[in-house]
Amino acid sequence: MAMLEVKDLEVYYGVIQAIKGVSFQVNKGEVIALIGANGAGKTTILHTITGLLSPKKGSVMFEGTDITKVPAHKIVSMGMAHVPEGRRVFADLSVYENLKMGAYTRKDKAEIEESLKQIYERFPRLEERKNQMAGTLSGGEQQMLAMGRALMSRPQIILMDEPSMGLSPILVNEIFNIIESVSKSGTTVLLVEQNAKKALSIADRAYVLETGNIVMEGKAKDLLEDDSIKKAYLGE
Ligand SMILES: Nc1ncnc2c1ncn2[C@@H]1O[C@H](COP(=O)(O)OP(=O)(O)OP(=O)(O)O)[C@@H](O)[C@H]1O
Ligand SMILES: [Mg+2]
Repeated sequence: MAMLEVKDLEVYYGVIQAIKGVSFQVNKGEVIALIGANGAGKTTILHTITGLLSPKKGSVMFEGTDITKVPAHKIVSMGMAHVPEGRRVFADLSVYENLKMGAYTRKDKAEIEESLKQIYERFPRLEERKNQMAGTLSGGEQQMLAMGRALMSRPQIILMDEPSMGLSPILVNEIFNIIESVSKSGTTVLLVEQNAKKALSIADRAYVLETGNIVMEGKAKDLLEDDSIKKAYLGE
């Protein structure tokens, strides 16, 4: 059984159909990349999985449970975390307060403290800045905070929407290294990216989305070698 199974998903904004029958699976332990150009529907798919949008047709199964109609906050407590596009940290709260917000579905104070310690180990820069207002962090630091906040819910799967957007090449590398280490520590990853090259370089498998349809899927390393992918997405 796949950890996450999206089946025949159709999503509309009013009369406009943004997702036109998308199916894919994420297995436990995998890093799956969903790549595609601006407006292809990547964010719409993530929002539908996490309960922020309702599909007109199709279903989303998570660990064998149909979550198609489950509200977003419940989905978080089931073990799915979402790092939204554009980070969306709470600008007027400190780094520490943002991280604590990420644990809002959890009760055990000692365990929350333990998670906080682990997050600070993974992101030393967040610990250095724990009392700084999140709105004054740099773009890369905000991305780390958004990831750290998502990890505070101790998810089984983490969905990330364009984590590399707007970051310098060095920071992009740093963020991708962190995604790999999150994966190695046992969290399944669904990664949405326009940076196809970097996404494919860390993913196990990938799906290519074009105007609401999946047009190609396969092992990430095969897609990296594919001529049409090279031309359309890798700038080669
Ligand atoms: N709230 C909305 N109302 C109407 N149309 C929307 C809305 N949000 C997205 N769309 C449209 O749905 C389509 C898919 O958008 P989506 O944001 O999912 O794309 P994306 O692949 O995430 O793009 P990007 O890489 O630019 O983030 C686009 O044509 C977009 O204009
Ligand atoms: Mg998007």
